[in-house]
Amino acid sequence: MTGLRLDAPRSGWAIAADVVVVGSGVAGLTAALRCAASGRKTVIVTKARLDAGSTRWAQGGIAAALGKGDTPGQHLDDTLVAGAGLCDEEAVRALVTEGPDAVRRLIGAGARFDTSAETGEIALTREGGHHRRRIAHAGGDATGAEISRALVAAVRDAGIETVENALVLDLLKDAGGHAAGVSLHVMGEGRHDGVGAVHAPVVVLATGGMGQVFSATTNPPVSTGDGVALALRAGAEVSDLEFVQFHPTVLYLGPGSEGQQPLVSEAVRGEGAHLVDAGGERFMAGQHELAELAPRDIVAKGIMRRMREQGADRMYLDARHFGARMWSERFPTILAACRAHGIDPVTEPVPVAPAAHYASGGVRTDLAGRTTVPGLYACGEVACTGVHGANRLASNSLLEGLVFAERIAADIARTPARVPVPAEPGDPAGTRTVSLPPAEARYAIQRTMTAGAGVLRSAESLARAARELAALAPDEAGGSAGGRDGKPAEPGVETWEAANLHLVAGVLVAAALRRTETRGCHWREDHPGRDDATWRRHLVVALRPTAEGSELIVRTTDSTAFPPVMGRGAQ
Ligand code: SIN
Repeated sequence: MTGLRLDAPRSGWAIAADVVVVGSGVAGLTAALRCAASGRKTVIVTKARLDAGSTRWAQGGIAAALGKGDTPGQHLDDTLVAGAGLCDEEAVRALVTEGPDAVRRLIGAGARFDTSAETGEIALTREGGHHRRRIAHAGGDATGAEISRALVAAVRDAGIETVENALVLDLLKDAGGHAAGVSLHVMGEGRHDGVGAVHAPVVVLATGGMGQVFSATTNPPVSTGDGVALALRAGAEVSDLEFVQFHPTVLYLGPGSEGQQPLVSEAVRGEGAHLVDAGGERFMAGQHELAELAPRDIVAKGIMRRMREQGADRMYLDARHFGARMWSERFPTILAACRAHGIDPVTEPVPVAPAAHYASGGVRTDLAGRTTVPGLYACGEVACTGVHGANRLASNSLLEGLVFAERIAADIARTPARVPVPAEPGDPAGTRTVSLPPAEARYAIQRTMTAGAGVLRSAESLARAARELAALAPDEAGGSAGGRDGKPAEPGVETWEAANLHLVAGVLVAAALRRTETRGCHWREDHPGRDDATWRRHLVVALRPTAEGSELIVRTTDSTAFPPVMGRGAQ
């Protein structure tokens, strides 16, 4: 067996390009704009509308050393501290030194950031882990929406071909194993419909995150780990999947709330809001020199500890002292979301609880965004560039998307264009088709992951999650354990998404089980200390087809190998 692909109908249509970019957040749109500007015929494929990815939900802003007295070196120091010993310093150096100019180019492309009324300079705020005011924002708390607006307009002006409402399925490869495009399914009526292909010798994955692997998340419903799952099936390595960042302050909507939850930006704390318990007591002061503005993992843990001590399911963010005017001018999006749920932050503390927010890990890349599969690049949340380590510093992600998308485009421009080699019709010999779990498996996966691999983890909770995932795994010999009447689930958007969620959940649990320490946003209750001697290294996972199905190959970056995890989920 040489490859894996999702069970899907044969392609009914195809288009050709030099570069196909999958995803339309800040990373995907920037990569596409730069590739098109260098003369490469570029096609963007995106799962919903061009402006509907995760970027538009980003509130706080984009971090860069733009302020007086700030330097890339200080930004580097804060990023390394937040990353808890696992950042790749060269990747961080690229981020912080190239970041300020990348933001200026973004402004040149039409993005309008908030400015100070007194100086006319870009207004900068603080967020967790930053020792300086370093976060540029737009529309108060609508930074991502403004960046998305500006980049979408630039893509439209540049006339870049886009295929919207398209769920990417698998990487196509040529006979030499080089990327040759993607297969995809277009949902609904349009110029292209159903399963088709974009043939291109360069594929840039910018599909965003996997927050939907948990029940409650700040991520939109489209964030189902499609890019990481595609890369795994294509044979690429992924890294650091155990490091899922839980945002400390997500609006608490009641017990058992599921799906996308409204974020209450860290910038609210940056402007002086306090975290308090139901009795009004501030509990972060004394836990860290930065109190409520400690790195995000520390604040999330502080909240979880207090909730446990008090048997509570929420804490509160108190910013009544901002007053009505500041709330409506500085945080209009959050104010509206709170009021839509019956809470008025001007007169009452806002109930908050941690929820899944950001995948620090992803498809492993080098500093040019190249994955371990030739011709396949990755940038943005889907990638693991080494910038975030064990815990991403607040507002570094939009910057990472910008900087590494530009690096990818520069690498593509430097590389002689390959003649597009369409993949052979049909599957290369030895390709195994992956059976699909039923659509309902999505909810079982989310509940399993929330209970067993959430903010607090232990060997017991992770082993239970692994067993439950194994029971949900489709039978790779043709049946589906969870399918109705034991029959394999039919190919379709919901079953493809469930298959992607199941695969990334299995890798996340396999890595979290093996990392027997607490570091950054990976919190093992049974291993509460950080173990630098054993674990100051990354876990790297690849998926390998076998005669019976597939197995996960897990190793560390110094090549310690673990026994393979066999097909029916991570054990
Ligand atoms: C926030 O506004 O709190 C989120 C910013 C981020 O995740 O970087």
